[in-house]
Amino acid sequence: MTSTAAAEIREPTPGRSSGFVTTSALPELDHLFRLFVLTWDPRGASAQAPESTRAIGLVEALLERGARVAIVTEASLGALLPAVEASIAEEPRKRLYVAADGGAHMFGFDHRGRPVEIAPTADHEDVLSFMMGELARPFGIEPEDVLVVGEAFGPAGLADILEQQLALEAQMGPFAPSRDPTWGVVESGFDVAREHEIESLLTIANGYLGMRGSLAEGSSVSRPATFLAGAFEPSSDVSPVPELVIAPDWGRLRFTVEGEPFAVETTAMERHHRTLDLRRGLLLREGLGTGPGGHATRIRTAHLASLANRHLLLEAVEITPQNFSGMVVVDAVLSGDVKSGSGSSHWAGFAPRQGLVGPILVGETHGGLELALASHTTAADPGSLEMRCEREIGPVSAMERCTLHVRLGEPSVLHRVVGLFTSRDGTVPVQRVELLEREAAATSFGALLGEHVAAWQTRWRQSDVEIDGMPWIERALRFALYHLIATVQPHDPRCSIGARALSGEAYRGHVFWDTEIFMVPFYVHTWPEAARTLLLYRHLTLDGARRKAKKLGYEGALYAWESADTGDETTPEFVRSPIGEIVPILSGLEEHHISADVAYAIWAYAQSTGDERILREEGAEILVETARFWVSRGAVKADGKFHIDRVIGPDEYHESVDDNAFTNWMARQNLRYAVAIARGVGRAKAAALGVTPEEISRWEEIAARMYLGEDPRTGLLEQHKGFFDLAYVDVAAYSPRTVPIDVLLGRERTRSSQVVKQADVVQLLALLWDEFSPDARRKNFLYYEPRTAHGSSLSPGIHALVAARLGLLATATRYLEQTASIDLGNNMGNAAGGVHAAGLGSLWQAVAFGVAGLRTTPEDPETLIVEPTLLPGMRRVSLPMQLRGRSLRVHALPGAVEVHVVEGAAPIGLVVCGEAGARHTTRADPGRAYVARRKDDRYLAWEEIEP
Ligand code: BGC
Repeated sequence: MTSTAAAEIREPTPGRSSGFVTTSALPELDHLFRLFVLTWDPRGASAQAPESTRAIGLVEALLERGARVAIVTEASLGALLPAVEASIAEEPRKRLYVAADGGAHMFGFDHRGRPVEIAPTADHEDVLSFMMGELARPFGIEPEDVLVVGEAFGPAGLADILEQQLALEAQMGPFAPSRDPTWGVVESGFDVAREHEIESLLTIANGYLGMRGSLAEGSSVSRPATFLAGAFEPSSDVSPVPELVIAPDWGRLRFTVEGEPFAVETTAMERHHRTLDLRRGLLLREGLGTGPGGHATRIRTAHLASLANRHLLLEAVEITPQNFSGMVVVDAVLSGDVKSGSGSSHWAGFAPRQGLVGPILVGETHGGLELALASHTTAADPGSLEMRCEREIGPVSAMERCTLHVRLGEPSVLHRVVGLFTSRDGTVPVQRVELLEREAAATSFGALLGEHVAAWQTRWRQSDVEIDGMPWIERALRFALYHLIATVQPHDPRCSIGARALSGEAYRGHVFWDTEIFMVPFYVHTWPEAARTLLLYRHLTLDGARRKAKKLGYEGALYAWESADTGDETTPEFVRSPIGEIVPILSGLEEHHISADVAYAIWAYAQSTGDERILREEGAEILVETARFWVSRGAVKADGKFHIDRVIGPDEYHESVDDNAFTNWMARQNLRYAVAIARGVGRAKAAALGVTPEEISRWEEIAARMYLGEDPRTGLLEQHKGFFDLAYVDVAAYSPRTVPIDVLLGRERTRSSQVVKQADVVQLLALLWDEFSPDARRKNFLYYEPRTAHGSSLSPGIHALVAARLGLLATATRYLEQTASIDLGNNMGNAAGGVHAAGLGSLWQAVAFGVAGLRTTPEDPETLIVEPTLLPGMRRVSLPMQLRGRSLRVHALPGAVEVHVVEGAAPIGLVVCGEAGARHTTRADPGRAYVARRKDDRYLAWEEIEP
């Protein structure tokens, strides 16, 4: 909190957003502010004075650290701009605002550092209220996070205040949360009812493992879990299926302050915040509380799973006594006392031991997976901290008990380095983990942290999306990309991504079409290497898919609807419903579009990256085997058409249906890809795959005969045979609701009505856009959208994408917001089971493919079509995009679209829509930038601009 020595907190005035902190003298402010409102004229007479120059430098440093700064000046912007341009770089300038002419005009700065008017202030008199409304509230900046500095200080006093802020941040080190709220998820307080959901949201992960953001010392409801990607053991469900292994708990810390436990439920907490720092991939926590004995203590922690070395886990702890000097004990525990949500203990036994550097917990699962976890806790500054650590080895745990002499008001900092290896890593885990601990002990904690932060920086450079004007959507996107980046292991094709990433136990870590259709596109365009690895998982599990096809009496490969490590079907045959009923699950038997989804993803990946190798090798085998499956799966009937009966499409409310449009269209694509690849791989490879010219002709023929369910009268696709005859139910009439519609209506009524669980035909429009005429896209969307109940998190993002492409702004906005709050707003009520990874991927797609309108066509993958549709309130959408070896940066603005070809070996085509359906094309060279300006609702021809 603010030490109010010289700061005054204004009482909030009703209807006004005051309550911010104003300074009336040089303050001692023990608080990191997020918005600085400075009444100041940096261009004034003393502009050249050293203190002005110093203040400007400090403003820039604060902007760089994510703060927002608003300068209120009497000067006109024209006069001020040269001073701003000369002193503040373009990137930090994006967080700078200027209220010029005494507040009559309010400007922000765009991606090129040019001023953009935000909105004219109706009431110049109250610039501050206006700023709170425009700059604080939309960003979630609380009044107490706003510092208003008046003119009275002069540049020197102002500079002192800013310098103090930077010094405070430096002193907090890793514990300092980002000043930019669009880079953080903050959970304050402690709410038993929300705790499981919060644990999911605050997961830290690095693709190798993921740890839920549980409280380190635990609570009555805490459910800590560390998941090991790709490692499975049987569950104890009604239908036992493999579930992700829950590793021993490595993050556990117990604090004892003067003999009393410091824990959220027993300590009177004056302040308790947890922050997921998305930019640095850190989970921060700050608790300030007083135990029954009256000892007030502030404890800050930082946890991370290193992205630079995926076997390395780091924790930092800072303890500051507020009203005493005395003893604090910190137990840093490795505990094998863990169970999965299904009640299984995956561990056959543990052999905890003393290692050379610290304690080690060695364990083995029932299935024979060996694991070694090692921990080593040290004082950050051994010279100034009196601390003694002892090791205690229990039957299933090992810990370090560190006793510290802490002094009133002085922060004592501990660092803990944990290493984890398993026998899946191709080494003897215990040897490898000891080596890692020794290497880490020889490296500073700051260096290990720095490598992790640098790895995240690289990822963010390739992925971050900026949405100027909609900060909460921008934050939701960062949250989405954080989890997508954190959950993929780009070097290990033995694991793919489960429906809830590495953040929760729902769906037991199983892999669905969610990965290929909803997540892979993000990786394709930001991290192609990761996309490739995910697709290779489908090659490694191809034998499982062959086994499944055979078991059901088909040829070729039918992928598991739910897949784990071997590729065999792992969908439970039964589940227990919330009311205890045993419900049979048919998707493992009938949801066959998965094979075509995998084929689609491989083809799309190769098109977008130019990686022909995967097509010639692993991809060819997958495409051929899945094509063979489709041939055996359907039959040509009396109408001369090829029909596929008894399936479940994406809309799982309708089971055992015939000719699901999504399935048939995607199967046709699968066959077409197989034809193209079998003809393109050369005779030797085709022969190795056993493909004959007759077989290729057969695929071609079936693709041509595929029944597609088009109604020539209406232009509609029938979702499955008989769908149009089902009863119409007004889905909107059941809103708002807290339970899925199939529960409200009952299974029978749902089945016999047109209520659609999730995007099905609409999903098809999104995937095969170029197969449909503009009229068919619009008609089908308008028909199916009101019938769709969004009973799956996969649905609203795809609706946002298609609605944005169709120019349905209000609909697109509504669905974008719905997608953004699936986890952050827990709007499906089940985030406790983990974040919805496909929903997160669909949020990115909605923005990249929908709002920014980026796509290629099958005919010309070397040309990027750019058709943005900015939604109301969006002032700019900027995103990086990889396409066939080029790195592009796209900026969609209200009056123009800019594309910068940042890197690449050859030019790439760019297309925008001109007048009367004409298209403007240009060859864009690497290292150059281009703009297409907008006139009315059409674009003019591309022009080259300064990069
Ligand atoms: C959806 C599926 C999805 C699965 C896992 C189900 O509710 O209907 O399409 O693959 O959840 O996310």
